[in-house]
Amino acid sequence: MKYDFSHSISRRGFFAAAAGAAVSCSLRPARASTEDERRIKVGPGQALLNGADGPSTAVWTYSGTTPGPTLRLRQGQPVRITVENGLDEDTAVHWHGIRLPNAMDGVPDLTQRPIGPGENFVYEFTPPDAGTFWYHSHADSLVQIGRGLAGPLIVEEREPVAADRDLLWLLQDWRLTSDGQIAGGFGSMMDASMSGRVGNAVTINGAAPADLSVTAGERVRLRLANACLARMVALRFEGHRPVIVAVDGQPCDPHEPEDGRLVLAPAMRIDIMLDMQGGPGSRHAVVDDFYDGLVYALTTLAYDKAPPLRHHLLDAPRRLPANPLPAPDLAKAERHEIVLQGGMMGGGKLAGVGGMMGMAMPGMNGAAAWAINGMSMTGDGDAGMAPQFTLKRGVTCHLTVRNETAWWHPMHVHGFSLSVLSRNGLPVPHRQWQDTVLLAPKDTIECAFVADNPGDWMLHCHVADHQMAGLMTVFRVT
Ligand code: C2O
Ligand code: CU
Ligand code: CU
Repeated sequence: MKYDFSHSISRRGFFAAAAGAAVSCSLRPARASTEDERRIKVGPGQALLNGADGPSTAVWTYSGTTPGPTLRLRQGQPVRITVENGLDEDTAVHWHGIRLPNAMDGVPDLTQRPIGPGENFVYEFTPPDAGTFWYHSHADSLVQIGRGLAGPLIVEEREPVAADRDLLWLLQDWRLTSDGQIAGGFGSMMDASMSGRVGNAVTINGAAPADLSVTAGERVRLRLANACLARMVALRFEGHRPVIVAVDGQPCDPHEPEDGRLVLAPAMRIDIMLDMQGGPGSRHAVVDDFYDGLVYALTTLAYDKAPPLRHHLLDAPRRLPANPLPAPDLAKAERHEIVLQGGMMGGGKLAGVGGMMGMAMPGMNGAAAWAINGMSMTGDGDAGMAPQFTLKRGVTCHLTVRNETAWWHPMHVHGFSLSVLSRNGLPVPHRQWQDTVLLAPKDTIECAFVADNPGDWMLHCHVADHQMAGLMTVFRVT
């Protein structure tokens, strides 16, 4: 059954229908009085991905740049963002990690009509949570994100957080040809059924990484966001002890990462507090060692010669103020299970998936290479697929995600942050809430959330190739 948008010409009408007009909901878009107006124009442009002296690269941009402009919003303040489509193809913008009304979620055909060439769409929402988020295309995602359609979104805390500087690194990974242009061949069977389109050039905030100049003694709040299609990173700050204060935008108990590595799969964010404990003039590499045999220095912390800003660590709490997340009621929870299946096994064979639909030529020409609970939903969503499960509004969902495949998958849930309970039977410490949870091969994780937001919501792997090739599903909150 396809969604009929003809009765929902106005977005508000659509949302009101979804939410039930009588219910007063804190997530409802503001009525007339939104003062915070933004505009984003989607269109082609050029970027210096090859360094200042290299050839420029033809990319797709939000308002002229990739990543797009940093949207700084305020917690609890309504915003209205007009997106103008200057591309020759449909698009839609997804506000990744923001808990917002379903009709504003930016999934073509599932939550809105795609924005056609030359058309506009007005997104209206009130971000309930402060933190580090991002926005990206959810139409033809593999190609549109891969050509540059992503940008950072910061929701500011109501009270400023103690740090000397607030910086953001949005990582993107590009597959460039020898003349510095974006390589074609999106969605090849190899990429689709294995680790996805990992590129050959990593940029920070859209540029080939240069040194980060720092001053001894300062505390930097550094927001790390992985906007790559497929590349995972594990960052080590040599000579430093970063403290994780938020994961996927949501504050956690401040803690140092295990082995000092900050692991970020596509779509994940980590906020750290980084005390600059090196000496004036010293240099310290930031190393990415996620892939065996592919260790490289991403960038360098370059201390200036200035005397230390302070001689002891900044004496201010690192803990961020809590966000208003509804507490899951585990005693009364409804249980659901998601099993990830498919992909290449050893020897170039695709794993057989019992009952997988449309598996004539797995991984070829947009056909399925993966499945969730035996079903493959390919592309960017199709309104025809029945929801995997349905939740009554307000219930706690206890979700088990089991990875039966031989590959890593950052599994992302739209519309909700999940309280991560355990991984492979071991409790996950530090009270972590995530919208994107990374599963290693054969991992099982348990998480919980309150289904307080009605609508049909996406749940998919954020390795774009995997999503397009079947690792995606939908669940419904009534
Ligand atoms: Cu950032 Cu459906 O994803
Ligand atoms: Cu999302
Ligand atoms: Cu995946």
